Amino acid sequence: MSVIVLRNLSHCYPPNRVALSNINLQVEKGERVALLGRSGSGKSTLLRCINGLVTPTGGSAIVLDRELRDLSEREKRDLRRRAGMIFQDYALIDRLDVLTNVLVGRLGYLSTLPTLFRLFPKDDIEKAKGVINDVGLAGYERTQVRRLSGGQRQRVGIARALVQEPEIILADEPTANLDIRTADEALQLLIQLSEQRHATLVLSLMDVRAARQFCHRIVALREAHLVFNGPAETFSDEVMEKIYY
Ligand SMILES: Nc1ncnc2c1ncn2[C@@H]1O[C@H](COP(=O)(O)OP(=O)(O)O)[C@@H](O)[C@H]1O
Ligand SMILES: [Mg+2]
Repeated sequence: MSVIVLRNLSHCYPPNRVALSNINLQVEKGERVALLGRSGSGKSTLLRCINGLVTPTGGSAIVLDRELRDLSEREKRDLRRRAGMIFQDYALIDRLDVLTNVLVGRLGYLSTLPTLFRLFPKDDIEKAKGVINDVGLAGYERTQVRRLSGGQRQRVGIARALVQEPEIILADEPTANLDIRTADEALQLLIQLSEQRHATLVLSLMDVRAARQFCHRIVALREAHLVFNGPAETFSDEVMEKIYY
């Protein structure tokens, strides 16, 4: 079953910056797909089109059986919960503690009022504590995020995406600012937790080695065009040259 179907997807930022050009891509349920490409090739834009943060200027995106173009704002919010995003800088709120940052991931479920007063339902708090434990941060619930290391912050970002119980996890260079070992550990954790939840994972990576090692399939962009789409083991050094040089 395909959970993401992109047909001739294009995006142009005003006035005339073409970020994606006629992308055709299908992702199956439970797959783990790495998105490679130089900086500026369109990776972030592609991920943002998949969860409705960017509205494509051409073509079609069907995500979890819904054509994105047809969704109301409310339906888009629901989609963003079902296709959760882990941002490059983790988009955490530094002054708030780990538990509150993770609970922010549950906001999609709440009406505005309790959100304003940061009153979260007991169930949500229990769920948040559960994922904090899953990412190895038990005991840090009340620690301000600004006191954490890069690797720990990344785990908070993962927990915040997982607490939404997403069917698709989109991760935008989730390990960009980590040393190689911390990055590998964070990736392995993300993979293990998404597999346990039978979630589909699409992640952009700077690291070709990690893409080959940890993903089933590699999709590569070059200057807004999709130039490679195949099993990770067929991503040869020749292909790599073509994409980066
Ligand atoms: N908000 C924006 N407004 C205008 N141009 C943008 C915007 N975001 C990205 N771009 C441009 O679109 C292209 C693709 O960017 P992006 O999707 O961020 O690539 P990547 O994530 O691979 O680095 C780049 O040329 C970038 O400068
Ligand atoms: Mg990017």
